[in-house]
Amino acid sequence: MKLVNKLFSLENRTVVVGGGAGQIGFSLCKILVDAGAHVLIADIDGEMAAQKVAALEDEASRERIHVYPIDVSNKSEVHRFFQQASASHGLLYGLINCFHFKGNTRKLDTASNFFAPFEDYPEEAWDMVHEVNLKGSFLMSQAAIPYFQDNGCGVIVNISSTYGNVSANKHIYGDSGINSPVAYGTSKAALINFTRYLATHLADQNIRANCLSPGGVFNNQSEEFITNYSKLTPLGRMAKADDYQGAILFLMSDASTYMTGANLVVDGGWTAW
Ligand SMILES: NC(=O)c1ccc[n+]([C@@H]2O[C@H](COP(=O)([O-])OP(=O)(O)OC[C@H]3O[C@@H](n4cnc5c(N)ncnc54)[C@H](O)[C@@H]3O)[C@@H](O)[C@H]2O)c1
Repeated sequence: MKLVNKLFSLENRTVVVGGGAGQIGFSLCKILVDAGAHVLIADIDGEMAAQKVAALEDEASRERIHVYPIDVSNKSEVHRFFQQASASHGLLYGLINCFHFKGNTRKLDTASNFFAPFEDYPEEAWDMVHEVNLKGSFLMSQAAIPYFQDNGCGVIVNISSTYGNVSANKHIYGDSGINSPVAYGTSKAALINFTRYLATHLADQNIRANCLSPGGVFNNQSEEFITNYSKLTPLGRMAKADDYQGAILFLMSDASTYMTGANLVVDGGWTAW
């Protein structure tokens, strides 16, 4: 096998993708399977995950993705999931925490109190966002550790955001009703340091942990928003979900064996100026 193929291969490795039914999450699932992995989607919207898997043209890919409907913020559901996953699929190699609470799993819903302005941001929305984004990542990572220990190794990737690194720019949203809420930014920033904690505490168990900070993905936002976002992005456009496939393959594979505790920013240059 050519060195380059060996370096990026995930042949026979089983990777859990929390939030794998989502726009970015499912795109990551597709490249992981393409690299040879078995993928276990752990997502509260099991129906959306199952529909996306069923729509894949390649039968071999369909057979290598398995869907587990769970709420990542519920400790007993998380533990039950890992027990079932290991009983059905054997040794576990990787975990990607790629979920977030946005009020509605399928669309940007401006009626959701998730999008409330800072001055009126409801306590319940603050709690819910941290419950899923931060506590969910904590519970999933903690529960995965005994299974990684059984395997003698493990790789964790937490998905943060541009807005975990810098503040949201409130001027780009116009009157779309969509903004980037305070709780989103605080939970995403916390994930970057949570990753460092995992990396330093688990390195001696041969478990690596890194963060990926994506920029905004095109998702039928208003023309005004897309134009404003693109102007502030050196590469001049919003991302496609598939723009993160290369980065995740690097972080999950042996191509990054000497990397832990890092935050890989893939944002079209948004944070560079
Ligand atoms: N899309 C973007 O523009 C963008 C930009 C930067 C960072 N991100 C980050 O990338 C990740 C994926 O984003 P996306 O755009 O694919 O989002 P998405 O909304 O399309 O997908 C999120 C997924 O998380 C799942 N989920 C929500 N709550 C859950 C829970 N309690 N338990 C289990 N699953 C739950 C949803 O069902 C959904 O499938 C998120 O962490 C997000 O913060 C996204």
